Amino acid sequence: YSGVVTIPVRVHVIYNSAKENISDAQIQSQITVLNRDYSKTNSDISLLPGVFSGLASNMQIQFTLAGIDRKSSTKTSWGTRDAMKSSKKGGVDPIDPAHNLNIWICNIGGGILGYAQFPGGLAATDGVVIGPQYFGSSSIVTTGGYFAAPYDKGRTATHEVGHWLNLRHIWGDASCGNDLVADTPTQQTSNFGCPSFPHVTCGNGANGDLFMNYMDYTNDLCMYMFTNGQTTRSRALFASDGSRNTFVQ
Ligand code: ARG
Ligand code: ZN
Ligand code: CA
Repeated sequence: YSGVVTIPVRVHVIYNSAKENISDAQIQSQITVLNRDYSKTNSDISLLPGVFSGLASNMQIQFTLAGIDRKSSTKTSWGTRDAMKSSKKGGVDPIDPAHNLNIWICNIGGGILGYAQFPGGLAATDGVVIGPQYFGSSSIVTTGGYFAAPYDKGRTATHEVGHWLNLRHIWGDASCGNDLVADTPTQQTSNFGCPSFPHVTCGNGANGDLFMNYMDYTNDLCMYMFTNGQTTRSRALFASDGSRNTFVQ
């Protein structure tokens, strides 16, 4: 498929306290960040070291807010076993996952910011889950939001949607592992915080790790790019034989 792919987004807010019931404005700010990051129109792309500039990619994917639903719950944390995705388990069922990206906003617990299901899984659990204080951007919603720095710029959703679009962690979830993308350098492990360039590991050459990639674990302010190889891998999902081809039909 060529051209921009538009993904309708269904947001399900499941809250136990008033602050977890994040505002429409905070939700919209996340859609804005996704649209910037998936079109390489994020302003912080300017931070990219010049040696990596040929790698930075426009995914040509856009997101539209297709609906918000809200549910109060007595549950204070939900874990990572998909209970929030099931009305029988006190959560909210996904809406037409063949044609919508479902995002559940709820407290996961255990210090987990978010998690995602890769393509090819069960429709009933397809989508991503993100904690309320990690959703949206405090640079857009400057008063009254619920945010937790340094994960307050909307990059948790950029990262989790990357998984939903078939991207692996850039270190391949192993020491000097393989992320199945050729143009991302092999790197030893996840990076946190805001590393300084270059950070060389695994004999990956003078330029070192691509720690500013959205599929690393650095701070929201310090991750700002996908690569051409990641775009190719994700967009293969929208080919006629791809497992998310229903989004382009
Ligand atoms: N799956 C990761 C976690 O839950 C998300 C990391 C997001 N990183 C970020 N800078 N927002 O820990
Ligand atoms: Zn991840
Ligand atoms: Ca790689």
